[in-house]
Amino acid sequence: MSLDRRTFLRQASLGAAGVAVVTQLPAAEAAGALPAFDDREPEAFWRAVRDQFPLTRQLKYFNTGGLGPASSPVLAKVAEVTRQLQERSEHGHALHAGAREVLARFLGAEPGEIAFVRNATEANGIIAAGLRLAPGDEVIFETHAHPGGSFPWAQQETVRGLKLKLFDPADTAAANLDRIAALITPRTRVVQVSHVTAPTGVVMPVDAIARLCRERGLWFHIDGAQSAGMFPFSLREIGCDSFAASGHKWMGGPLETGVLHIRRDRLNDVAPPLVGAYSGDLDFLPGELRLAPTAIRHEYGTRSAAAIVGLAEAVKFQERVGRERIAARGRALIARLRAGLAPLPGVEILTPAGAADSAAMLTFRHAKLGYTDLFSRLMKDGAFRCRPVSEQKLNALRVSAHLFNSPAEIDGLVAAVRAVG
Ligand SMILES: Cc1ncc(COP(=O)(O)O)c(C=O)c1O
Repeated sequence: MSLDRRTFLRQASLGAAGVAVVTQLPAAEAAGALPAFDDREPEAFWRAVRDQFPLTRQLKYFNTGGLGPASSPVLAKVAEVTRQLQERSEHGHALHAGAREVLARFLGAEPGEIAFVRNATEANGIIAAGLRLAPGDEVIFETHAHPGGSFPWAQQETVRGLKLKLFDPADTAAANLDRIAALITPRTRVVQVSHVTAPTGVVMPVDAIARLCRERGLWFHIDGAQSAGMFPFSLREIGCDSFAASGHKWMGGPLETGVLHIRRDRLNDVAPPLVGAYSGDLDFLPGELRLAPTAIRHEYGTRSAAAIVGLAEAVKFQERVGRERIAARGRALIARLRAGLAPLPGVEILTPAGAADSAAMLTFRHAKLGYTDLFSRLMKDGAFRCRPVSEQKLNALRVSAHLFNSPAEIDGLVAAVRAVG
């Protein structure tokens, strides 16, 4: 950003230029108020949570892993901020700071380690394109990586001659760790895993992988598109180098929100593939671009402050519900689904059962119907919105269970699968 522009913006945000600029917003009103959780009647609490989502009741929505619905407090916040900013035609950049603190707290990181991006794919792409790697350098990740996690590396294989080494995800933490370790060579530079794999919901042992990578001097990147908002964790404790999150899945944020985390002491190892205003300073042209000393350097150009503030609102909503409580709810619903599906003839469950190896997603297939027919049948019979899984020819359906889902919906799904025969 040029000095003139920066000075203007600073003055404007202080009001010195006589421009009233929105830097703070009133707290969200009563929207999102929830009753106290009562152990004796938990379903009353969860019904109140469900009431906070405008998501139609005509659907039994089991596709949070694809796209998570936003709650009313989030939508209200986005509308309110959009309106306030549009009334003065401002970008509202000053609002990012508060949201950054909220997201840092949520992820167990520092605000300066957080960059707002459009989606997890963008965060993964910045790491793949930005790490200083040479032709022949090796990158390890799993065959079940989502295109948002694998394509950025496939592109770098083409452009920079990197070598990709893939492993099939296993059902246990120990086996996953072994498979990664077996692929490491003197040319390995990066290990990436999906924190929770998209096709079958395997939870990867990220703490152990982080330790392994530290011992071997490897960059460890986590694609957390499926984990952020599904269960709580602390990036500080995990000890990865970088992390990508989707705002519009389990976190319940507005569409086109995401977060890139880069550990503070690793910031300079990633050359930003895209830079522009807010990435740093360049007083005169020609001149040297001095990158911002924080992850903000990856936030080139104008952003939607309303979406970013909406993402922070989504986090606050989850904190009001209780993050551990949300994680336990997802697990309990999936355990109920597993218990219902496991005895059914023709049903094969692909998601590991170990408590540490899976969480709030379960993938299954049916011997009688291929995945597209099974998907259509469940939609037609009861508006059960699952996610077809075509990856790696798995021929299956994935069920995501989140805070707005209920045991009754799970029981309905089990009955519908039973009726397939
Ligand atoms: C593991 C994983 N990574 C990346 C993505 C892409 O996410 P986004 O749409 O936020 O880029 C997905 C989406 O399903 C995913 O499951």
